[in-house]
Amino acid sequence: MKIKNVVVIGSGTMGSGIAAHLCNANIPVTLLDLKTEISEKAREKIYKSRPPLLIDKSKINNIKVGNIDDNFDVVKDADWVVEAVVERIDIKHQIYEKIFKSRKSGAIVSSNTSSIPIKVLSEHLNEIEKKDFCITHFFNPVRYMGLLEIVKNENNDLNKINQLKEFCEIELGKGAIICNDTPGFLGNRVGVYAMQIAMTEAFKMKLSVEEADAIFGRPMGIPKTGVFGLYDLIGIDLMADVLKSFIKELPETDKFHEVAKEIPLVKKLIETGYTGRKGKGGFYRMNKSGATKIMEAINLETGNYSPSKKIDLKSDKVDLKGLIHRKDKYGEYAWSVLSKIIKYASSLVPGITKEFNDIDEAMRLGFNWAKGPFEMLEEIGVKNFFDKIDNFEGNDFLQKLSKSENEDFYGERQKYTNIETLGKVKKSALSLDGNDSAKIYRFNGYNIVEFTTKANALDYDSMDALKKATDKPLIIINESMQFSAGVNLTYTMQFADKNDFKSIEKFIKYFQETCKHLKYSKFPVISAPSGLTLGGGFEVMVQSNFVASHTNIVVGLVETIVGLIPAGGGCKEMLARWLNTEEGKADPNYAPLKVFDIIGYGKTATSPVEAEPMKYLRPEDKKIMNRNSLLEVSKKILMDNKNFNSPDEIQFKLPGKGVREEMNKIIEKLYNEKVILDHGVVVAKELAHVLSGGDTTIDKTISEDDLFNLELDSFMRLIETQKTQDRIKHTLATGKPLIN
Ligand code: NAI
Repeated sequence: MKIKNVVVIGSGTMGSGIAAHLCNANIPVTLLDLKTEISEKAREKIYKSRPPLLIDKSKINNIKVGNIDDNFDVVKDADWVVEAVVERIDIKHQIYEKIFKSRKSGAIVSSNTSSIPIKVLSEHLNEIEKKDFCITHFFNPVRYMGLLEIVKNENNDLNKINQLKEFCEIELGKGAIICNDTPGFLGNRVGVYAMQIAMTEAFKMKLSVEEADAIFGRPMGIPKTGVFGLYDLIGIDLMADVLKSFIKELPETDKFHEVAKEIPLVKKLIETGYTGRKGKGGFYRMNKSGATKIMEAINLETGNYSPSKKIDLKSDKVDLKGLIHRKDKYGEYAWSVLSKIIKYASSLVPGITKEFNDIDEAMRLGFNWAKGPFEMLEEIGVKNFFDKIDNFEGNDFLQKLSKSENEDFYGERQKYTNIETLGKVKKSALSLDGNDSAKIYRFNGYNIVEFTTKANALDYDSMDALKKATDKPLIIINESMQFSAGVNLTYTMQFADKNDFKSIEKFIKYFQETCKHLKYSKFPVISAPSGLTLGGGFEVMVQSNFVASHTNIVVGLVETIVGLIPAGGGCKEMLARWLNTEEGKADPNYAPLKVFDIIGYGKTATSPVEAEPMKYLRPEDKKIMNRNSLLEVSKKILMDNKNFNSPDEIQFKLPGKGVREEMNKIIEKLYNEKVILDHGVVVAKELAHVLSGGDTTIDKTISEDDLFNLELDSFMRLIETQKTQDRIKHTLATGKPLIN
């Protein structure tokens, strides 16, 4: 069975997300909803979604829309019908009756339900219909969340389930995990338990919401929303509904019940409209007093709000062992929460899945955890864990493990896929090298560098690892969410605060030298980005010889926003790309002006389709839907380039003053229109200086090194100004730009 045509019924959050993602995969799709719902509305919502659900917005009309009264006929041509209507069993049953009357024989029908078991959904279906009916549980936002749980039961045709899995993996790029028909499947069963235990323990141990989020967050490899921030994001009322459905479905003996009891403060929040970010606020709220906005956090005991406090744990790293051995309430909380999550997750094996590894994968793909509970156990160490844990009676998995004392119990990773992923190959590396900011995995014939800092921000050590790893063909790739958010500004500001500009200069020079080395070393260098690929991250990518990019990439040069200009070769490479166009060759001002526009505004692209017209990516760069495949594609590039010759150095001819005058006119206009203020002018003039080629004229030739020097000088002049430092500090503190 080939899936060539899909119908999605229900055009709400999930249905439109699924339809948009099918469109991303170039699969013809029709989206149906009630007649009273205007179908155009769904298309408009998809078009305007942020982050964008579509890779290529110009394809919006490829999503056909209609209503279930007039257009239900489309179902008879569909190979797969996805139901994503409201979570009401009566409505879902009515829809299935209609679908099965019309569907093509053998077509798959699935529900996106998050809580209703297959046996209930399919209770009115006959045996043949049951064979083709399953649950496909996508996560929101569909384009960005890697997890897809395909839930089957004993009535299913397993061949067909496997074909569907393959389609969702290869065509839709999802981490498709096949699960049994148990409440909450894998991700939500463990993920919601984890949230509840993190919340109830915070109440019990009298931690503040900021403290709990600071621990149940980055140090555990969990997104920084933590638990209370995540509650606000999902919706406190929605979480209450989810808990109700778990309570209803799970047997009384399940430990889930202990953490799902109603909490008076939570009840009060919902009743008073404090349902989270979509409501008046939640555990956190933004309080506006006059023109200033103050983030406030709730006191879990009194229910009163006060300005949110930053918690300094004195470490920015994921460090489970360090965390659970702390001799303070934070260590106590971390251990209590972690050990209970590990206990709960392991108690579910083999009931909900025989592969404990699948639970970890579900947590990584569905909740963006760096490690799942079993990997956390592995990291803590089997002996350490059992030395600390109290009792684990009735938990077969832990009983066996405590007897075997096997520190290597984990075995293979990412068993749900046959793709050779970074997670899988890491373990087979011949040796490990590197430093605090990046790891080098050495294999026969090639190296891998994986950045390991927060958001993979780059520093001296990151550059050191890259340079060291060019003794063989090199693939720069990582498992965490971002390829790199750019140069580590905190690191840079530490020098600036001490007026130690020499150290900053040394770092930028080393950055340039490393990037040049990547480009011209005798072995090929491949970057395989996904997620944020900004500033310095982009400069590493653009000076690699080949690129294999995930379709979920946010790419661009954003330095001007913090009062700087790209100084690791970003200006130079963008000029080279635009000079190499027909227009660039015909008109010497064309390329500098184009790049001035792109970098000046700090423009970013949210997909390869948007990145190409700006030349952040080239047509020959590979674009890949399944993030898991980035390594295989990169390795194939290596195979195809066994006789690699490093490129020739580029010579530039730039107009100098001639084009700078045009740029100055643009700057003046923007200043007069108050689009930019005083410091904006300073930054833009430095950018104009670099992109025009400095004191050159069109008849002179300048080298890549000349451009590196121009970038460096301008960068240094800017970082030494108070107003650039103000911008950086503001952005580090608030995540937002400062316009000054
Ligand atoms: P939603 O409320 O955003 O959208 C539901 C849509 O169904 C609405 O557009 C509504 O007009 C339509 N609808 C209602 N009755 C219909 C009928 N008889 N025929 C056709 N359309 C009908 O809901 P959402 O959030 O998209 O959820 C859909 C399903 O996905 C639910 O089963 C939910 O449990 C599940 N789910 C939701 C997730 C989320 O994060 N929102 C995540 C994973 C699963």
